[in-house]
Amino acid sequence: RVRCRAWRAAPSGLPREGLTVLYSRIAGTGSYLPDRVLSNADLERIVDTTDAWIQERTGIRQRHVAADGQTTADLAEMAALRAMEAAGVTAADIDMLVVGTTTPDLIFPSTACLVQARLGANGCAAFDVNAACSGFIYALSMADKFVRSGQSKCALVIGAETLTRMIDWTDRGTCVLFGDGAGAVVLKPSEETGILSTHLHADGGYKELLFNPVGVSAGFIDEPGHGVKVKMIGNELFKVAVRALARTAEEALAANELPQEALDWLVPHQANLRIITATARHLGLPMERVIVTVDRHGNTSSGSVPLALDEAVRDGRIQRGQLLLMEAFGGGITWGSALLRY
Ligand code: COA
Repeated sequence: RVRCRAWRAAPSGLPREGLTVLYSRIAGTGSYLPDRVLSNADLERIVDTTDAWIQERTGIRQRHVAADGQTTADLAEMAALRAMEAAGVTAADIDMLVVGTTTPDLIFPSTACLVQARLGANGCAAFDVNAACSGFIYALSMADKFVRSGQSKCALVIGAETLTRMIDWTDRGTCVLFGDGAGAVVLKPSEETGILSTHLHADGGYKELLFNPVGVSAGFIDEPGHGVKVKMIGNELFKVAVRALARTAEEALAANELPQEALDWLVPHQANLRIITATARHLGLPMERVIVTVDRHGNTSSGSVPLALDEAVRDGRIQRGQLLLMEAFGGGITWGSALLRY
């Protein structure tokens, strides 16, 4: 039982004397990838590109693509069920459901509401967070605050996307990068250390680097050169991302007075292997302590961090008690991190 609901940890994340600290802790993880795999060789037949270029510039070999009619909520539901099973909870236990997504099935109801109804978790709070590829980190941060304050006893946090649906398949600069997928975690209150801190940022001044121009006011016209397609200035975004991720990693460690050497794992957003390598180098972490899925998943946006986490938890690399730094960046631009003991 939780004796003290207040969050009064010292900056180090250690309880102040005489106080019981309530953390939110990951009780279980799950993920789901659609069956269909699109290889670089497949893309060579669609746009003017080569497997060698894609691998050298991004590290991506293949990505998964949702089947016709398969939606973000479908992927989210599968990931959620697996996370719930791993955490040993049922739909009746869930009292909060947050979905990070930038590819919701509908404008409304939110994807969280659609998933809630399918799971049978009706009645609890359910909402989407749109922070583009940082969506899962943003969603996790929201849920962490609710659990820590005692308002939620069992939060389901999902990152789910069908980003390939809004890709211009004639634009070789973007279509080789993205894939579909979902990951989820169940957060529960714990007196054992869990999430130490989360750090969220955005700079709307960089909107032009990555955006999708459709919307309620802009309209939803899908024509060549317009419409429901992601626009990106990749090489500019690359530089901004590397700088932002290095800063947020430093920020998370400094806020908890922890040295870089304390980190067991970096679980980064999987956009480009070169960005991941640059962040790891900045942290002085060897690549053996970085979870990499971008080679097989491509960039699954909000799905990428929880997919990587689930893979490494299930294959036994990530162990209970280890210190993890998760980080992400995306359109907005948005970026952020979560430092936690698994
Ligand atoms: N195949 C072959 N050539 C390609 C190509 C492809 N798929 N995509 C772009 N090119 C070409 C360009 O047309 C350009 O040709 P040019 O020199 O004749 O004009 C050349 O490669 C270099 O383009 P550039 O954009 O400078 O390459 P890059 O090394 O920056 O790599 C990205 C491009 C997109 C892989 C890289 O910038 C990147 O990953 N940026 C971050 C994107 C990202 O993470 N987005 C999601 C954020 S959540």
